[in-house]
Amino acid sequence: MLFSHSDSPSGIWQSIKHELHRGALDPKHPFRYVNLGTIGKGFPKVRTVVLREVTQELDFLVFTDYRSEKVREIQSSPMIAIHFYHPKKMLQIRVEAKGEIHFQNELSEQYWKKIPDGRKSEYTGSLAPGTPISNPDFGWEWSEKSFFTVLKISPQRIEALQLSKEGHLRIQFEKEKDWEGQWLVP
Ligand SMILES: Cc1cc2nc3c(=O)[nH]c(=O)nc-3n(C[C@H](O)[C@H](O)[C@H](O)COP(=O)(O)O)c2cc1C
Repeated sequence: MLFSHSDSPSGIWQSIKHELHRGALDPKHPFRYVNLGTIGKGFPKVRTVVLREVTQELDFLVFTDYRSEKVREIQSSPMIAIHFYHPKKMLQIRVEAKGEIHFQNELSEQYWKKIPDGRKSEYTGSLAPGTPISNPDFGWEWSEKSFFTVLKISPQRIEALQLSKEGHLRIQFEKEKDWEGQWLVP
């Protein structure tokens, strides 16, 4: 358990932030992989991505290919959602956020420099992600051009659900209320 009914909302907020930071720092932490939801055409879209960094301002950073569908979706509708689950702590975190695409700008250049050479090909495929191909080998052709993109996710509302034998606990924190905690019926 990350928190219990006797903890204060401000204490819980500190614990949640700490856990989110750990997700980006520890490759074995369950928050390392996050489910990212976007508004697609017709259907909502969800996919797993790696949480690369949580900044001091509490922005989440994810790396992706500029040509991917999620980038187009976020450009047309920046309201997105991310979701975490910690099985040992039985903790779900749901985040409503604004997504911002950084491609060929200062922020993306800053992070591109830190990508090890052996991993750069993940962002230099000849064909765009999702392109239909007649042979799977065609998905492993590289170009000279980088499509490396940083997706900056700025939370507006963070909700935690703590499962517990003594009674489940649900609490939300909203940016426009200075992240003050509000208990909710689970
Ligand atoms: C464990 C795991 C980690 C992944 N990490 C990323 C990632 O960090 N960035 C990314 O763009 N795609 C990542 N993917 C692939 C995405 O889930 C998705 O298939 C791909 O980005 C295409 O999504 P889209 O067509 O909705 O844009 C990951 C997939 C898995 C299974």
